[in-house]
Amino acid sequence: MGRRTASCSLYICNLSYVIILLLTVIPVSVYVQSYVVYLGRQPYASEPSTTDLDRVTDAHHELLGSCMKRALKLRFIVQLRPVLHGRGLHSVAKSTAILLPFSLILQDFIKSSYVVYLGRHSYVSEPSTADLDRVTDSHHELLGSCMKSKEKAKQVIFYSYTRYINGFAAVLEDEEAAEISKHPDVVSVSRNQISQLHTTNSWGFLGLERNGEIPADSMWLKARFGEDVIIGTLDSGVWPESESFNDDGIGPVPSKWKGYCDPNDGIKCNRKLIGARYFSKGHEAAETHDSSNHTARDYDGHGTHTLSTAGGRFVSGANLLSSAYGTAKGGSPNSRVASYKVCWPRCSDADVLAGYEAAIHDGVDILSVSLGSGPREYFTHGNAIGAFLAVENGILVVASAGNKGPDPGVVGNVAPWILTVAGSTISREFTSNVILGNNKHYKGVSFNTNTQPAGKFYPLINSVDAKAANVSSNQAKYCSIGSLDPLKVKGKIVYCTRNEDPDVEKSLVVSQAGGVGVILANRLITQQMRPRAHFVPTSVVSADDGLSILTYVNSTKSPVAYISGATEVGTVAAPVMADFSSPGPNFITPEILKVLVAYDISATTISNVKQPIANASLLEANPLNYGAGHIWPSSAMDPGLVYDLTTKDYVNFLCSIGYNSTLLSLFIGKPYICQPHNGLLDFNYPSITVPNLSSNKTTLSRTLKNVGTPSLYRVNIRAPGGISVKVEPRSLKFDKINEEKMFKVTLEANKGFKSNDYVFGEITWSDGKHHVRSPVVVKKMEVAA
Ligand SMILES: *[C@@H]1O[C@H](CO)[C@@H](O)[C@H](O)[C@H]1NC(C)=O
Ligand SMILES: *[C@@H]1O[C@H](CO)[C@@H](O)[C@H](O)[C@H]1NC(C)=O
Ligand SMILES: *[C@@H]1O[C@H](CO)[C@@H](O)[C@H](O)[C@H]1NC(C)=O
Ligand SMILES: *[C@@H]1O[C@H](CO)[C@@H](O)[C@H](O)[C@H]1NC(C)=O
Ligand SMILES: *[C@@H]1O[C@H](CO)[C@@H](O)[C@H](O)[C@H]1NC(C)=O
Ligand SMILES: *[C@@H]1O[C@H](CO)[C@@H](O)[C@H](O)[C@H]1NC(C)=O
Ligand SMILES: *[C@@H]1O[C@H](CO)[C@@H](O)[C@H](O)[C@H]1NC(C)=O
Repeated sequence: MGRRTASCSLYICNLSYVIILLLTVIPVSVYVQSYVVYLGRQPYASEPSTTDLDRVTDAHHELLGSCMKRALKLRFIVQLRPVLHGRGLHSVAKSTAILLPFSLILQDFIKSSYVVYLGRHSYVSEPSTADLDRVTDSHHELLGSCMKSKEKAKQVIFYSYTRYINGFAAVLEDEEAAEISKHPDVVSVSRNQISQLHTTNSWGFLGLERNGEIPADSMWLKARFGEDVIIGTLDSGVWPESESFNDDGIGPVPSKWKGYCDPNDGIKCNRKLIGARYFSKGHEAAETHDSSNHTARDYDGHGTHTLSTAGGRFVSGANLLSSAYGTAKGGSPNSRVASYKVCWPRCSDADVLAGYEAAIHDGVDILSVSLGSGPREYFTHGNAIGAFLAVENGILVVASAGNKGPDPGVVGNVAPWILTVAGSTISREFTSNVILGNNKHYKGVSFNTNTQPAGKFYPLINSVDAKAANVSSNQAKYCSIGSLDPLKVKGKIVYCTRNEDPDVEKSLVVSQAGGVGVILANRLITQQMRPRAHFVPTSVVSADDGLSILTYVNSTKSPVAYISGATEVGTVAAPVMADFSSPGPNFITPEILKVLVAYDISATTISNVKQPIANASLLEANPLNYGAGHIWPSSAMDPGLVYDLTTKDYVNFLCSIGYNSTLLSLFIGKPYICQPHNGLLDFNYPSITVPNLSSNKTTLSRTLKNVGTPSLYRVNIRAPGGISVKVEPRSLKFDKINEEKMFKVTLEANKGFKSNDYVFGEITWSDGKHHVRSPVVVKKMEVAA
């Protein structure tokens, strides 16, 4: 009987009329087990009434309720429900005279996997195998002491993190997890949570090249295309045969590299792709996993996409269904790349941490981590913990903000040591026009263009009028699966409306029904039009244009249309914040501004058409959407000044948000005492966010470090509406490289300023050549009326 504690809790009741306890083998989900408790037969003389049945159900609630009171130490949620209902129940009653067991669902109760985090290791030199074994043993000891059996601890621990992260992942019961979290050596115990993959963005639009030429000021030239930089991804693996990873003409692998391609895996490393490893135990503990499928090969595509976006080589002739012909390339095409597969395609904390351990050890310089799970507290978030250790080891960690937009407050990966990136559009437009029989043109988007000959019209039908007999008009309206009648659709362009189902599903439905094209109209005027690779020529049009097209269809005897278009570059205002991109404010620490489309000084908030960056509704976006703005890498090479941050600052930051010295000493692996200081607002972050400006003046400080030539910088202030901003001193003279100068910023709400919404401004230090800009984001404290 595997579920020892479960059965205990019922035996504790010691109720003599519990005759049999059956454990069913029907887990409702991974964390939920259902049980059947059998109480014997019902004494009904005749067919029971509903009241009779309700009475019995109530008796079950009473019975279990009385047990649970005594076993209540266990934190579980119980649901009772008769296993058999209604007619089924009655017929069972009659035919078998065995009646009414009830089932209960014990949730959060059985074993699930946890990450136990103990802080970090601080080896003086490279640890030996014996050192690592000693650490593993200490994990067995620690957990063994809680479980009263070291052997048992050994069996349940499936990862020991021994090199950088000190901790382990194990399958535990809730009580055991609660018990171990009380141990003085433990920083945090958290469920082995699952994150989702996020998408990253394209590079071409960032000023690294112009019309296929590489300008002299391009960061690519200065950085020699990222030569010998090692970029790792924690993602869904890699497709090693991709042309982006060919190693023609690339020199030997940097000698510092310790990584490899897993020899049992059939993936061959070369001088470009220098690492491919996988970590699946956390996923196996949390979800069902096909254990025969142990490979770093990317069956999802996301990992190959992110890895080649960051470090792919120039691949000419790349195209997507004949659209957007061009040279595919990564942001850092001469770099080396390494893939750490931790997503299957969902990514568990335990595997993410194992990936960080490996990547730090192997010697990556940059980690790209396009995964996340919404805002999470730092010490129970695998990505935040892993990234801290990576940053401490000199690795830049770049992560995605998330795809949960446009609702506010959902930005993820909010730890200040992570460079968090939002999603936006580029200036390439995938036009796919609709031309109607009345010669009206509507501009839409799609990848699959130019496949209908210009001037050749096809009959156009509203999908509602092409509905199959067995479906509702609503299903047909959205061109849902099986909703169209092939007889009505054959040879026609079908007008469909978008809903939450994937767009490409609709072009597939039309294609399968014999249609030749799709006009796919937005349902909401605020929706962004997204190009996709469709099964038949498709044009995604705005809700307004959709209405006009539909009016034409309804008012015309034989409506006709064709779809035609081409990729256009530079014709469109960009960037526009993608509507999926997760905006702030930061739910965990509102003083830290995330998202960053790009980072501080080297970014712009003006689009290519000299307008402020727009949000997905094409209204002016703000730093809660784009953080510091859109990155401009070529000027990031020579920023002039920087707001420097070290891990010491990050630890002070953690102290100022309430983690105590004891916990932080464990976290950094050496004694640490929280210093009294002005707190969070003084954290030397390149943006200034005061989410709770009191009626008094608020003063905070920042320190600038000179990384350029000697220069005199003056400040330029654009105060947020209703707020006065003073900077002292107003000029800073730097004589040497690495010289640091502090300045103070005083913020005060103007008299009579009432708004309790966020307001936005900026301060910029400039020496005429460099412009070092920080967003200023302020919200006035709400005063109780
Ligand atoms: C591994 O999983 C992928 C995706 O689930 C599947 O396409 C592939 O065939 C599997 N490979 C093996 C060897 O089972
Ligand atoms: C309607 O009937 C067709 C033909 O029998 C079938 O293929 C289709 O799946 C059905 N649609 C739905 C939504 O059940
Ligand atoms: C067009 O006709 C359909 C019914 O065929 C109707 O549902 C829709 O509201 C009409 N739309 C317009 C814009 O006339
Ligand atoms: C764009 O900004 C406007 C004005 O702040 C806001 O009302 C709208 O909801 C925003 N749209 C999105 C998609 O964030
Ligand atoms: C420090 O914080 C931990 C976790 O919140 C707590 O258990 C501990 O008692 C605290 N220690 C001190 C000295 O306040
Ligand atoms: C702002 O301050 C008030 C009063 O001190 C507090 O209740 C509130 O939680 C604070 N809000 C933020 C975002 O810090
Ligand atoms: C403002 O400052 C005064 C004097 O220092 C203090 O008594 C008061 O509590 C402060 N108010 C707020 C909202 O911080």
